Amino acid sequence: MENGGAKLNGVNKNWRFKGIEPAATAATAATTTTNNNNIINNNNNGKMESDNATLKKPSRGVTVREARTMIMENLDPLDQRPMLALAHGDPSIFPCFRTCRNAETAVVDALSSGQFNSYGTAVGLPPARKAVAEYLSRDLPYQLTSNDVVLTLGCTQAIDIALSSLASPGANILLPSPGYPYYEVFSGHIGLETRHFDLLPENGWEVDLDAIEALADVNTVAMVIINPGNPCGNVFTYSHLQKVAEVAKKLGILVISDEVYGHLTFGSNPFIPMGVFGSIVPVITVGSLSKRWIVPGWRLGWLVTNDTHGILQKYGVMESIKRIASISADPATFIQGAVPQILEKTSEEFFSRVINILRQDADICYDKLKEIPCLMCPHKPEGSMFVMVKLDLSKLNGIIDDIDFCIKLAKEEKMIILPGVTMGAKNWLRITFALEPKALEDGLERLKTFCQRYGVITNP
Ligand SMILES: Cc1ncc(COP(=O)(O)O)c(C=O)c1O
Repeated sequence: MENGGAKLNGVNKNWRFKGIEPAATAATAATTTTNNNNIINNNNNGKMESDNATLKKPSRGVTVREARTMIMENLDPLDQRPMLALAHGDPSIFPCFRTCRNAETAVVDALSSGQFNSYGTAVGLPPARKAVAEYLSRDLPYQLTSNDVVLTLGCTQAIDIALSSLASPGANILLPSPGYPYYEVFSGHIGLETRHFDLLPENGWEVDLDAIEALADVNTVAMVIINPGNPCGNVFTYSHLQKVAEVAKKLGILVISDEVYGHLTFGSNPFIPMGVFGSIVPVITVGSLSKRWIVPGWRLGWLVTNDTHGILQKYGVMESIKRIASISADPATFIQGAVPQILEKTSEEFFSRVINILRQDADICYDKLKEIPCLMCPHKPEGSMFVMVKLDLSKLNGIIDDIDFCIKLAKEEKMIILPGVTMGAKNWLRITFALEPKALEDGLERLKTFCQRYGVITNP
């Protein structure tokens, strides 16, 4: 053996490689610690911010998955109660959220047909792309074609491809704050600069359109919106989306519209896809089966271009997208094979069942939060699976910040919610309400008990 022997077994050798530190994480690297662990990167250098310093610019260096895992490390193994996770948008474990029979049959049929065992094509199998184009066109004033669609490994890979296709040297992108941290983390990984505009809680979490104009410069290439919203649970109106389109057009930037929660709305605003405004501004829509069908493990998503004037083609973005898709992995072909049947034949009854549970959950959550004095919910959720709640630290004894809150909650109540800092909103909390209603009630009761334990006693 060339490298054999005790001395050359690899331990003492100087290897030339090492793990990389993604650019964004390195740039914001600093830590907040509450117990002895390094929990979450924070540009705060461990200092406490004043209580009113809310919605500070993001200090995001971790994804939801990473933050959740880190909080979960604090669970007490001796606590016999079931763990309650109000921290991620995957209710598939609850029987009431099981996907529809049609979707399951479609996958079984595709698999057992023996026709979907080969490699796929770079942008996806043609019948599946056509089905996605037809499905999304139902809500648009024009018809998409298969050429507008790239199939991806969940919405996550659609985001990767969209951002990668725009990451020319020096380019920057505008992200919502609070937002979905993956955009930040992935942009950092590929060296795309990020800038943040606020979503305004007092305006139902609408985009601060003035901030967009103030932030953009000649190197700004795109802005991202998430509708229905994660983490805020808001749903943008038609007129607000139109204003977003007009501002983006004025600035000469495209809009990436994350519609992974598309159609999951249960308030007064209906879901309007941003593609409706594809004649005003080029729009890249990203989405997936994950949320509406509650099958995030199936990893089937799409990137779709809505661009009636062919601007993305003219500026070479289509070519970049297709090139990046061709050097990326594709979704499993038997899932692609099932897509036409899933999109064409899922019954309205299934969709309404899911919406009804989410509406019930949102009501339970909003009502229960009103009973907890240290938590303030500025806007009742109307879509997606989440709500943002502001933490009033002046009403709590012995809690340093949102991270400390979530860690102690995990330890003492065996319950996981996410600190707002992960989403760019320090001293806020993101609560997922998409649970079986009884489990949600139990979770909120634990949350209330926890807050009472730390509550400041005020004189009547
Ligand atoms: C806003 C947003 N975009 C994208 C994704 C990723 O979706 P997928 O699971 O289809 O990759 C998520 C997942 O939670 C999300 O919340």
